[in-house]
Amino acid sequence: MQEPDLNIVHPFIEEYLKQVSPERDSILTEMETLASKTNFPIVGPLVGRLLTLLASATNARRIIELGSGFGYSAYWFAQGTSDEAHIICTDSKEENAQRAMEWLRRGGLDTKIDFRIGDALDVLTSEEGPFDIMFCDIDKHDYPRALSLGIPKLRRGGLFLADNVLWKGRVLADKPDEKTAAVLTFNRMLYSDSRIFTTILPIRDGISLSMKL
Ligand SMILES: C[S@@+](CC[C@H](N)C(=O)[O-])C[C@H]1O[C@@H](n2cnc3c(N)ncnc32)[C@H](O)[C@@H]1O
Repeated sequence: MQEPDLNIVHPFIEEYLKQVSPERDSILTEMETLASKTNFPIVGPLVGRLLTLLASATNARRIIELGSGFGYSAYWFAQGTSDEAHIICTDSKEENAQRAMEWLRRGGLDTKIDFRIGDALDVLTSEEGPFDIMFCDIDKHDYPRALSLGIPKLRRGGLFLADNVLWKGRVLADKPDEKTAAVLTFNRMLYSDSRIFTTILPIRDGISLSMKL
């Protein structure tokens, strides 16, 4: 199959899930509008709710996001954590960090956020573990390295989450390009590494959940 671009979830089901989900607050709605206008990739509300749920269910105190963009996914994480939580956000673009901090401040969530501008994997390398949750949403070619660097810094029972692991269906391509090949390598690593237990949820563009054993 040549690089197909598929809807992972049937569009009618995607629409139904959006309709049945509650409205977001005005700040998340503004972020979604900007993402849609500028074609900026955000996780969207279906995955967003999962991030809040996982942060809350695991009582996460230390979270690191690799690739925070303008703070949409961080906003959902922050909503699922207590005031003691420390969330390290990373992005290579200062403009994204500034936008993120403004929105998070307006939502009263900025005190939990430590936004680092620079390469996410450099930040991960320089930080000591253990983390409760890591969320990987950087350029796809770096996914395998993010996992290798990340697992030793997760606590037992901690979660490594990654977005876009079904990569618009390109994981089915006969001749995967470089990014797709990295996603394929990453997915194989997720299921073959005995230090973690993984499942992939085919919502939006596919999100992987791996628990450190
Ligand atoms: C898909 S967007 C992140 C969206 C965000 N997680 C959300 O759902 O709201 C990816 C972001 O990661 C940044 N990025 C990509 N590779 C990076 C890297 N190696 N280090 C730091 N930032 C990176 C890009 O600038 C971009 O803003």
